[in-house]
Amino acid sequence: MRFCVAIDGPAASGKGTIARALARHFGFGHLDTGLLYRATGRRVLDGLTPVEAARALRPEDLSRDDLRTAEVGQAASRVAAVPEVRSALLDFQRAFAARDGGAVLDGRDIGTVICPDAEVKLFVTASDEIRARRRMEELAAASQIIAFDDMLADLRARDRRDAGRATAPMRAADDAVTLDTTEMDIATATDAAVAQVAQALTRR
Ligand code: C5P
Repeated sequence: MRFCVAIDGPAASGKGTIARALARHFGFGHLDTGLLYRATGRRVLDGLTPVEAARALRPEDLSRDDLRTAEVGQAASRVAAVPEVRSALLDFQRAFAARDGGAVLDGRDIGTVICPDAEVKLFVTASDEIRARRRMEELAAASQIIAFDDMLADLRARDRRDAGRATAPMRAADDAVTLDTTEMDIATATDAAVAQVAQALTRR
């Protein structure tokens, strides 16, 4: 069975947590597409050009343990604005979306470019302040201490670049359901997403 759930939204909106929970709940595969751009950005910091880095990406690069830093997030967002980088990563994402047994992909352009025919499209968002606080706590748990104001500025700079680029900018697909998680805890947000997917599955 092919069944694609496309989840987009800005950094630290909760989309990754929701994507993982949906994949677990329904037994679907999950691809965090941000990791593709982070792994590419990481290799650019190591000295490759963006296009070389994207073309040379191997599956094992996605499990590097140094991809979650703010520095790599910014590098990812810079390489993500390069059209040749995006096209080098397209086939892998589309093949994953078409896998048998169902797939959840989260990123910035999943509902608009990667899986425009996805059975479910969610756009997950939250206020800038709550996103900065969540990301700050996440990084602190990994012993990376960042001040709130710096975190807020970092997220806003990344969002501006992601939403403003010419190729595949971050935006909600016209037929996406928006989930604002500002006032929601994880369980409430996940339940809302599970309900959307369950409803789409009954329509098949
Ligand atoms: O989701 P995450 O914060 O890990 O993504 C890192 C960066 O990768 C984003 O800021 C964005 O520039 C880029 N990205 C993208 N398209 C995607 C996923 C991520 O441009 N589908």
